[in-house]
Amino acid sequence: MVIKSVNLETVCGITSTLPQNDKIEVAFAGKSNVGKSSLINALLNRKSLARVSATPGKTQTINFYNINEEMYLVDLPGYGYAKVSEQEKIQWGKLIERYLNKSQQLKAVFLLVDIRHAPSANDAMMYEWIVSQGYHPIIIATKLDKIKRSQIAKNVKILKEGLHLVPGTKVIPFSSETKQGRDEVWELIEREFLNKAEVE
Ligand code: GTP
Ligand code: MG
Repeated sequence: MVIKSVNLETVCGITSTLPQNDKIEVAFAGKSNVGKSSLINALLNRKSLARVSATPGKTQTINFYNINEEMYLVDLPGYGYAKVSEQEKIQWGKLIERYLNKSQQLKAVFLLVDIRHAPSANDAMMYEWIVSQGYHPIIIATKLDKIKRSQIAKNVKILKEGLHLVPGTKVIPFSSETKQGRDEVWELIEREFLNKAEVE
């Protein structure tokens, strides 16, 4: 994908009306601090367009990035952040649920999990829940630069087992630091959801 323009077009909090976009949307879900905003920056070749933080709970809204007036990348708030109150967790959960339920344009949901660790119960629940909403989530195993090359296959296997992935589900190892996996994510989006036969 050649990035010609990027615009943070819509920011939705818990009380916001969700946009009715006329271009396709691709969303990124995953627990707090897993690297959703970093991945969006990496996909867009930007350093800090999407706000990133070492402290979990950075993204607290649903952020719609308009790419080339052609599609949206959607940054979701993370789940499982211990410091957020129970009330806030419920409200963010409802916001995400409302979005996944109502969007007419959401074509793909990527679920991000940290490649270093076995998936948490929350990750497995999120996966199952996205599936129950009728999506076939694609898994992105983040922070690939933090493990040795020799550990990749084993960790991906643990991840597949821990999430009880539907057979055939794609797992893409990814690093926002080295940009490994970036081309694969774009190729998949372009091929499957933008109906482009070849990458530009
Ligand atoms: P919330 O907005 O809180 O849900 O988090 P997020 O999933 O958007 O995570 P974010 O992109 O803010 O990244 C969290 C931390 O992980 C930051 O300190 C990032 O620099 C770091 N990080 C993200 N991706 C990678 C990666 O691929 N490799 C390494 N080494 N660090 C990463
Ligand atoms: Mg974020």
